[in-house]
Amino acid sequence: MDFHALKVALVKNLTKDSVQITFDVPEELKSEFQFTSGQYITLDINGTRRDYSLCSNPLEDEWSIGVKAVKGGNISKYLTQDLKTGDVLNVSTPNGRFGIPSKPNEKRTLLAFAAGSGITPILSVIRYTLQTEEWVNIYLFYSNKNPEKVMFKEELKALQKLYPNNFHLHLFYSQHQLEDWLFEGRLDEHKFELILNQLVDINEVDEAMVCGPNEMIKVIANEIFKAGIPKKHIHFELFTPDYTPLDILPEEMDSPDDVQVTVELEGEVSELVWNREKNLIDAMLDAGIEAPYSCKGGICSSCMCKLEEGEVHLGDNFVLTDSDREEGLILACISRPKSASIKINFDDI
Ligand code: FES
Repeated sequence: MDFHALKVALVKNLTKDSVQITFDVPEELKSEFQFTSGQYITLDINGTRRDYSLCSNPLEDEWSIGVKAVKGGNISKYLTQDLKTGDVLNVSTPNGRFGIPSKPNEKRTLLAFAAGSGITPILSVIRYTLQTEEWVNIYLFYSNKNPEKVMFKEELKALQKLYPNNFHLHLFYSQHQLEDWLFEGRLDEHKFELILNQLVDINEVDEAMVCGPNEMIKVIANEIFKAGIPKKHIHFELFTPDYTPLDILPEEMDSPDDVQVTVELEGEVSELVWNREKNLIDAMLDAGIEAPYSCKGGICSSCMCKLEEGEVHLGDNFVLTDSDREEGLILACISRPKSASIKINFDDI
């Protein structure tokens, strides 16, 4: 993950408390900034990092994010209230694994559940998929407090108009009365059941995406699974870790205090001592190595690397699949040393 100073090409108000920020990516950086729908970029603002999903379509040569002000969030306040066209921000190259594999020749049905700013990565996937898959059917269930809070409302309505047979948009409001009570209230277990009864046949669903507050993701992803969609076809993106790396550390950790570790990163091989009290990212940063990271909570995958020798304790995470684990992939930010000597490669993933 490399950071570059990018000029802000446009700040567009979406709602009273959210904006779309479009970056001017110069020609010489375009290949580095290539992305797939569902990926995010990280902003480094005076040393504080925040991840924001790209909402644009990778086919359209545009790099935009959607930012909503969060209570007490200085960064989101600055981005939504003070940022101007022409300002320069420190922006990472795109990262992340959220999204669904593209299948342009298949007739398939996708479900998308979003709440609040969780629409941003989902919008990117929807834009791309509608443009590339003629036979697709996408159902979007998008929840907000009221109609004034809906980010990208115009864009979603425009997509509905452009793809009336492929894109089925359903807006839900938790604090706004409607004639049809089906669309009143939050996306929860009860609402999910009603959606399956009245709006979509789960037997036709191939893949599902969920993005929003962690609690909503857990509830809806669980319901989708219980309804019969296999885990590997349920995709979600958590924005904030519910725990710290220490919380997920096994109590009775059987490992030496200090471990010798060899790390390969961007072609350079370094040796360092890794103390069991630290995760690998912090151990590397302490040793002066510019380790790649963003969330430091097992969510974003920026710190993914390969365990080539030795063993580590790996915390819970929402990123690695079974086949990733079989290949030896780990997340450095939630890893603690287990064996006496360890070899890690960040380049070969
Ligand atoms: S830094 Fe995000 S998963 Fe490790």
